[in-house]
Amino acid sequence: MLSLVLILSLHLWNAIAVTIDMEGLPDTGLDTSSWTQGILPPLDDIYDLNDIQMAAKNVLSAKYYASYRTGALNEYTYQANLGIYSKVRLNGFSFRDVSSMKTSTTILGYNFSQPFFIAPAAEAGHANKSAEASLASAAGKAGILYVPSISSTLSIEEIAAAGLNGQVMFHQEYIWSNKSKVLDELSRMKAAGFKAVFVTVDNTGINGIRTRSMRYTDGSDTGHAANFDLNALAAFRNLTTLPIVPKGIKTWQDALTCLKLGFPAIYVSNHGGRILDGAPTSVEILMDIRKNAAEVFNGMEVYADGGVRRGTDAIILLALGARAVGLGRPPMFANIWGEAGVMRMIDLFAQEMYTSMQLMGVSNVNQLNTSYVNTNQIVPLS
Ligand SMILES: Cc1cc2nc3c(=O)[nH]c(=O)nc-3n(C[C@H](O)[C@H](O)[C@H](O)COP(=O)(O)O)c2cc1C
Repeated sequence: MLSLVLILSLHLWNAIAVTIDMEGLPDTGLDTSSWTQGILPPLDDIYDLNDIQMAAKNVLSAKYYASYRTGALNEYTYQANLGIYSKVRLNGFSFRDVSSMKTSTTILGYNFSQPFFIAPAAEAGHANKSAEASLASAAGKAGILYVPSISSTLSIEEIAAAGLNGQVMFHQEYIWSNKSKVLDELSRMKAAGFKAVFVTVDNTGINGIRTRSMRYTDGSDTGHAANFDLNALAAFRNLTTLPIVPKGIKTWQDALTCLKLGFPAIYVSNHGGRILDGAPTSVEILMDIRKNAAEVFNGMEVYADGGVRRGTDAIILLALGARAVGLGRPPMFANIWGEAGVMRMIDLFAQEMYTSMQLMGVSNVNQLNTSYVNTNQIVPLS
């Protein structure tokens, strides 16, 4: 009788105990044995952004997890994005006054509580019914910037309405081959109160080949124009009064071109490794701009993203010259809990940044510069 009970309970245990392949993410002791596959784990189990990804993997269908998680081809760039930060050392200066801390900054002149923002990512509705609404409201409550994707589940107007009174948001846009669609969307963004437009320039006409997600869905036509270049984008600025920021700059030459064309900012990004596999990481690109076209950092604001999962990763990009740092996948994964999950993600990340700044002797985020990083382990690109 006793052995029957034992067998039955072991059987039951096997049915519910979850082990999740951590995909090589840092092992910080996450214990998923009390989780049930397909069921949202308690937010109390979550201590960092990698835990959030594992929770999303536990809850989302394989198809939707793959659609968020995927990189292009062999995912070399996706992995490089995650790994590059381990090659940068942080110079912590001891015994400096860090009794009063400031993490707030301005982005294009607007005030935000943190130098990190929620990057544009398509189809938040796959994680939660509230879709982009919870990203907008969480960002608003935390005082950080949210930049919804033009390929969102909700419309431009619905996302604007989900924000708090007076909340500043920017919007992302693609250059569609159908120009009147672009014009219509730009005027709707302006009317809905968005303050700037990040125009994505790294997947002209075509998307990356994302093997991981193609196993579930066909790669479809992007509808993006293939005949567009940075000069044409500069001319585009006559069509809207909103500031335009090219997103997806991967070379110092393009960064310099954008400076010469008079853009107010650029967004250094390899699109989370989802476009050109083999593209360099933002750390390498920022170092390359610094070496070959340092005037870019004085002449315009520079934003950057890719693989940012720890407050220390953001500190590295800020020290290399970024004014603000984007998070792509983590907020999308955190949205499995809706607004509460996204707020938890923001809190955890802000705490890591704040603590690490204190440990480095940095009391104001705008003090971060190259004296705080040692990049000797990184081989320069050119
Ligand atoms: C699911 C998903 C959808 C995305 N959709 C867009 C998009 O519509 N427009 C865009 O410019 N970038 C898009 N991106 C790229 C992000 O803006 C950002 O550059 C990238 O995710 C940063 O890397 P990270 O995910 O490692 O933080 C998307 C990224 C993900 C993960």
